[in-house]
Amino acid sequence: MSQRDVIIACDFASAEATLSFLDKFTDCKPFVKIGMELYYAAGPAIVKAIKERGHKIFLDLKLHDIPNTVKKAMAVLSQMDVDMCNLHAAGTIEMMKAALEGLTRPDGTRPLLIAVTQLTSTSEERMQKDLLINASINDTIVHYAKNAQVAGLDGVVCSPLEAGMVKEACGAGFVTVTPGVRFADGEVGDQVRVTTPERAKEIGTDYIVVGRPITNAPDPVAAYKRCMKEFAE
Ligand code: C5P
Repeated sequence: MSQRDVIIACDFASAEATLSFLDKFTDCKPFVKIGMELYYAAGPAIVKAIKERGHKIFLDLKLHDIPNTVKKAMAVLSQMDVDMCNLHAAGTIEMMKAALEGLTRPDGTRPLLIAVTQLTSTSEERMQKDLLINASINDTIVHYAKNAQVAGLDGVVCSPLEAGMVKEACGAGFVTVTPGVRFADGEVGDQVRVTTPERAKEIGTDYIVVGRPITNAPDPVAAYKRCMKEFAE
């Protein structure tokens, strides 16, 4: 069973800009993503403020450190009552297991934990030359996804174009969260490997993360509703 949903990337530099953007959504409560820019600018208070307005939150901080540090950091994030958070699979299975332990609350509940495989900004050439990974980018993504699954995580962040192979390797229930989505008639911007909400639905991804096509639209609410219609209905 898929829980298809659209997550709006709230890539704003301040709490004020974010909250005035969210004020436009009077008849719905979109799932929102808080990334490094907003979190470093506005801190835990913005998480609390958005949560209190009734939105689900994906806290996209991409943790990557020694297992003990990540475990303790995840324990702090889990108290913030977010719905989804993430880390880099490159931190190893041991780090991912520690993260899961830290994230799990005393009552056994926890936010979804998702691993970044290879950033969509990393080309196969750069991965092989800079990171000295001697495999294809697709094999690396599937390998990292399987590691995340072994560690007990819920899924991965990947390009929508990679979601199909991740599902094939890890099963339909393994969650895929995919940025790089553009309307067929929209601007691509700096994203390279993009697809439309409709195509992302066909491929079978669970969540699409959409930023500028919604935040920069003349009517952001209409753009969000169009995304929901094309992807989630
Ligand atoms: O504006 P746009 O739709 O390109 O926003 C996509 C969001 O997803 C941004 O917040 C970006 O940081 C994030 N992201 C991405 N590619 C990844 C991981 C995260 O575009 N591989």
